[in-house]
Amino acid sequence: MSIIIAGTGSYLPERVVTNAEFETFLDTSDEWIVARTGMKERRVTSGEPSWKMGELAARKALDAAGIAPEELDLIICTTVTPDYLFPSCACMIQGAIGARGAFAFDAAAACAGSVYGIDMARRYLATGDINTVLLVGAETLSQVANYEDRGSCILFSDGAGAAVIKRGDGPYGSCLRSDASGAHQLYCKHIRKDTPFYKSDAPFDGGLFEAELVGTTYMNGQEVYKFATAAMPEAVIGACERAGFAPETLDMVVPHQANLRILETAAKRLKLPMEKISVTIHKYGNNSSASVLIGLDECIREGKIKEGHRVSLVGFGAGLTYGAAAFEYHSK
Ligand code: UT7
Repeated sequence: MSIIIAGTGSYLPERVVTNAEFETFLDTSDEWIVARTGMKERRVTSGEPSWKMGELAARKALDAAGIAPEELDLIICTTVTPDYLFPSCACMIQGAIGARGAFAFDAAAACAGSVYGIDMARRYLATGDINTVLLVGAETLSQVANYEDRGSCILFSDGAGAAVIKRGDGPYGSCLRSDASGAHQLYCKHIRKDTPFYKSDAPFDGGLFEAELVGTTYMNGQEVYKFATAAMPEAVIGACERAGFAPETLDMVVPHQANLRILETAAKRLKLPMEKISVTIHKYGNNSSASVLIGLDECIREGKIKEGHRVSLVGFGAGLTYGAAAFEYHSK
């Protein structure tokens, strides 16, 4: 069983942050950022919460699919920057769009989230119990960036992507992996308050990780880079194997956008030209689980992904998590 991607949508905040803006408060330069990451500018929220961006992306996906919110059975939101610990971002989106018949929950797998989400949607659909899933990746990473760390804050951005997914036929394969041996290379500690029973200096508090940054992202860029350059091709090759076609026959790869150099290295390993790799990093930066769904939406709307095309979606990030799905794209 495969999937139909009945419609996609995305939302990017209007506020554009150029590399030059970072030069005003950091020891950095446009030249360094472009050369080392491929980023020229990124979109950053000026108030829109994750759930609102998710709602706006979801509305576009529903319009594209020609599906009413009441027809949705399940909403999965893959955010790692939810506005509330509870209710879930997915429930906030459900309420906002009026999807009264759907159950809704968040599933966090960082920047691999939307790929895990695609696979989870397919497995729910395979049971036959439900027919229509809305998958949303909505993130406000700018709110958890460390603006004193020039090696990471320049990367992170905000936005949302969405897809309406239904049951389909044809080849499908996935390859999902987690490797917690690298968990300490990329993390953001959740805020906890002292209570009468819990003190933040208690012996087990955060002992795993080196830096005690609460609500702020820590990243060992070089280690994550090494992981990502190996993980991305491994996942795509694994997914294609299970789908029953060779990676070289892919028409389009839609990867998580972390660094243009990672995408170029992966393209070489996959023996694919860069025209077959979706790139949005120069304009949108790294918005975690939103990036693959935004890229997918753009590729479909621009005609780079057409009916019957062989497509692979691939993500990698904190956890460490990585994974890919490979399938033939059909919207009906
Ligand atoms: O979405 C989740 C997955 N995330 C990723 O996949 C990110 C993976 N990592 C990367 O993309 C890259 O490692 C970075 C873009 C974060 C950094 O690039 P790099 O080529 O690995 O740089 P580096 O950390 O090795 O640093 C090289 C030099 C250092 O200076 P020295 O020690 O050689 O004097 C850094 O201090 O560049 C310096 N540097 C900067 N210079 C100007 C680091 N950040 C900056 C900066 N501007 N923003």
